[in-house]
Amino acid sequence: MITYYILTFLYILHVTHSIPAKRPFLGSRILPEQKPTKKPLGYIEDTYLNFTQLTTKYGYNSERHTVTTEDGYVLTVFRIPPKCQVAKGFPVILGHGIYDSADTWILTGPETGLGYILSNNCYDVWAVNYRGNIYSRKHLRLDPEKDSAYWMFSFDENGYYDLPAVIDYVLDVTKQKRVYYIGHSQGTTNFLVMGSLRPDYNEKVQLSILLAPVAWMKNIQSPIPKLLSRQSKQIRTALESMGLHELFAKHQFTHLVPEQLCQIAPNEICGTALALATGYTLGTITSYNLAIVVGHAFVGSSVKTLAHFGQLVYSGQFRRFDEGKAKNKRKYGSPRPPKYNVSLVTSPIVLFSARSDWLSSMKDVNILSSKLPNLVDNYVVPEPTWSHNNHVWGVNATELVFKKILQYFEKFNT
Ligand SMILES: *[C@@H]1O[C@H](CO)[C@@H](O)[C@H](O)[C@H]1NC(C)=O
Ligand SMILES: *[C@@H]1O[C@H](CO)[C@@H](O)[C@H](O)[C@H]1NC(C)=O
Ligand SMILES: *[C@@H]1O[C@H](CO)[C@@H](O)[C@H](O)[C@H]1NC(C)=O
Repeated sequence: MITYYILTFLYILHVTHSIPAKRPFLGSRILPEQKPTKKPLGYIEDTYLNFTQLTTKYGYNSERHTVTTEDGYVLTVFRIPPKCQVAKGFPVILGHGIYDSADTWILTGPETGLGYILSNNCYDVWAVNYRGNIYSRKHLRLDPEKDSAYWMFSFDENGYYDLPAVIDYVLDVTKQKRVYYIGHSQGTTNFLVMGSLRPDYNEKVQLSILLAPVAWMKNIQSPIPKLLSRQSKQIRTALESMGLHELFAKHQFTHLVPEQLCQIAPNEICGTALALATGYTLGTITSYNLAIVVGHAFVGSSVKTLAHFGQLVYSGQFRRFDEGKAKNKRKYGSPRPPKYNVSLVTSPIVLFSARSDWLSSMKDVNILSSKLPNLVDNYVVPEPTWSHNNHVWGVNATELVFKKILQYFEKFNT
């Protein structure tokens, strides 16, 4: 995630140096649509394939579903049905992290992609795309290109609207009573927001697995987000005054440049960026996977999401978006934003954390775990170099994380 912060900074530099201020456009128009120059770089094909193309390539069925939220956002959810006659346990909803997409669960390929492994083990897999990313950039009334109102959301809305809508949809299609949820990074934040703002949804969750959980961010160790968080209000104001509400979209330079650079030098460039951001140790994600990852990351979200995380770091609290005193009063009935009350998240939860995760530090995870009323386990991956993204793309993730997830599911499959 911090790469994203670093890139925000670069992005601002880029924007302020290349574009006359006050041009009336939204983020998507910053750069013209570009076809990546793939061939000369000896590219890896999977970098450029979308969810459907990837699943097809590796011999898996996938379905594309559309879910509309109460507030009109149109989301794409991908389903990978179980590779078995009969589905096991409960349908599994997968929730990606910030500026990421459903691709994250399959991009390391059929041997080590969690989406495939779950399907092989007879689970019915549903991978969400939260509002604003490349697959879910739609609304019944608002146009993401023209209406800045479209981008006025953060993980608060992802948790309040998107996830409940997806859960209800999946339960309706599968005729099940409950789902499993697996979230990574912001995917865990969204889940905790849902459980505390809409506690009735806890009934619909059999078990959730929160990988690299993000709620309290008091103790993050990554220096750059720490620094930038102090400026997050100014950064947001600056970006939005330039008409920029969408950040790190697929067609923007923040995606295109790393996508190309990481084809040439995945470890040197992308590995170093990850290291600065999340505490990544060289070699713990293969450079092959690193190169693919970058073709699928930075696929869009709102400036407001980043600003909300900045507020969490700066305030040291896990609370709703601070809109400023006057607006807070109108929206929340108090001058300060209310805290998310995670003691209302009564569904069973397993936390997965790691010692070298500079973003979800052990201290912050422990604050969260001490407040959760139905904690099944606070599992620390027994590998000292394990970090934020290793839970999903890491060498040995199958051994150290995915097998464990399957074991927890077995326990709750009743
Ligand atoms: C994936 O790419 C193919 C080919 O460009 C396109 O037809 C398809 O609609 C895309 N699928 C999704 C889910 O975006
Ligand atoms: C993966 O596991 C093997 C066997 O336990 C170990 O030798 C290796 O160092 C691990 N690699 C990483 C990157 O964690
Ligand atoms: C949080 O929820 C718990 C459980 O319902 C309740 O006892 C407590 O008063 C709530 N805390 C706040 C600050 O609202």
